[in-house]
Amino acid sequence: MPYAPTLKGMSVLVTTGPTREYLDPVRFLSNPSSGKMGIAIAGEALRLGAKVTLISGPTSLTQTVSKKIKLIQVITAEGMYRAVMKKFPRADLIFMVAAVSDWRPANFSSKKLKIKKRWPLPLVPTPDILATVGRKKKKGQLLIGFAAETNNLVLNARAKMKKKNCDLMIANKVGSKNVGFESDHSRGYLLSKDSVVPFPLLSKQKLARKILKVFSKPFSN
Ligand code: C5P
Repeated sequence: MPYAPTLKGMSVLVTTGPTREYLDPVRFLSNPSSGKMGIAIAGEALRLGAKVTLISGPTSLTQTVSKKIKLIQVITAEGMYRAVMKKFPRADLIFMVAAVSDWRPANFSSKKLKIKKRWPLPLVPTPDILATVGRKKKKGQLLIGFAAETNNLVLNARAKMKKKNCDLMIANKVGSKNVGFESDHSRGYLLSKDSVVPFPLLSKQKLARKILKVFSKPFSN
């Protein structure tokens, strides 16, 4: 019988994209995440038969998401946190791909701020969504984190995996040409509790396939 993996009967939750942390109505702190990796994972999970929910930060690529995926659009880390807390208890697989801002401005001005010569900007940490799910997840739920790193990929990702209680971590190389944020490609490592598997430069589509193969089961009918 040919191997035809399936996620039939499974519920998959994916976060993707950046978050925006506003200083005033027209300025925010963010990062260049495009949402491509999370959208690829959500699409692949759907193709394999899962029921998929995608919680996305602001990216125009959400227009490309299949109508069969439940899309929840959020803006801030706090908004993403609330959406994830609501949805994760019913998910079997939880992929936290979003590049969540770690900090937000301590104060929000409802009026556009006037430019000053010096502008001290006090920041406060945003909720750590991955760590919270890592603490709260129940037996049988699998949590997959992503780590964007410029150096010491495996070491940093391993530490993050342990600290946030993930079952699998994908360490992505960022900061060099043609990979990472905004790119269609990625390279790095797949880390489980007892293994490290490198993956070469792959399209995010192919990488999504590779990652989901780890969780899907052979199809028999
Ligand atoms: O930003 P960092 O490299 O620590 O992100 C690693 C992982 O943690 C990613 O899977 C990301 O989605 C998740 N994360 C999160 N909430 C945060 C920061 C990161 O869920 N506030």
